Amino acid sequence: MSSVIILGSSRSDGNTAKLVAQFSTQISAEVVDLSSYNILPYDYEFQNQNDDFLPLIDRLLTFDRLILASPVYWYSPSGTMKVFLDRLCDLLDIYKPRGRALKNKTVAVLATGSALSVPDCFEQIFSNTFEYLDMSFQGLFYSPSSEVGNLASQIKYMDEFIQQCFYQTQKTLSVEHRS
Ligand SMILES: Cc1cc2nc3c(=O)[nH]c(=O)nc-3n(C[C@H](O)[C@H](O)[C@H](O)COP(=O)(O)O)c2cc1C
Repeated sequence: MSSVIILGSSRSDGNTAKLVAQFSTQISAEVVDLSSYNILPYDYEFQNQNDDFLPLIDRLLTFDRLILASPVYWYSPSGTMKVFLDRLCDLLDIYKPRGRALKNKTVAVLATGSALSVPDCFEQIFSNTFEYLDMSFQGLFYSPSSEVGNLASQIKYMDEFIQQCFYQTQKTLSVEHRS
């Protein structure tokens, strides 16, 4: 199954990017950094259609699994990720064949934050959105920022997450569940 990781952080070399780099190595995934794209906020009048959103979606739709990666900013996904999520509404309104193509995808989330555990509300934003979009949610891997540089530990728990979530049933794993 081909996978692409979509990084949405306010910095391309921060904690989430480091987690993404490690995870992409583990599963041989491509990485797309949203900060390299000009993606405008959702517009009810669709006056934003000359930005990079649609070409990006066409690229993402060539993969089987989409993995969204975001830091926790105020219990929520980053603004960069939220703008991307909002724009998925375009696929329900004016690009319906692409919206239908999205339904066949599986999806997962990577996240970092300074707290030891990921807030429920953070995961719910993703799980509810994926449910609405009829996408198959495989789980969320959370790493506290203090653990991001701990390579041996990351590899071990990423492997566990990949086995449990990608090859068995949906499960959320975060560091506090590990010890
Ligand atoms: C604006 C902002 C808000 C944040 N809010 C939270 C938060 O609500 N919970 C948390 O655990 N960490 C919070 N953090 C810490 C970041 O999630 C953490 O440092 C993360 O690893 C940063 O990833 P990045 O380097 O990709 O930006 C916040 C950081 C920023 C800059």
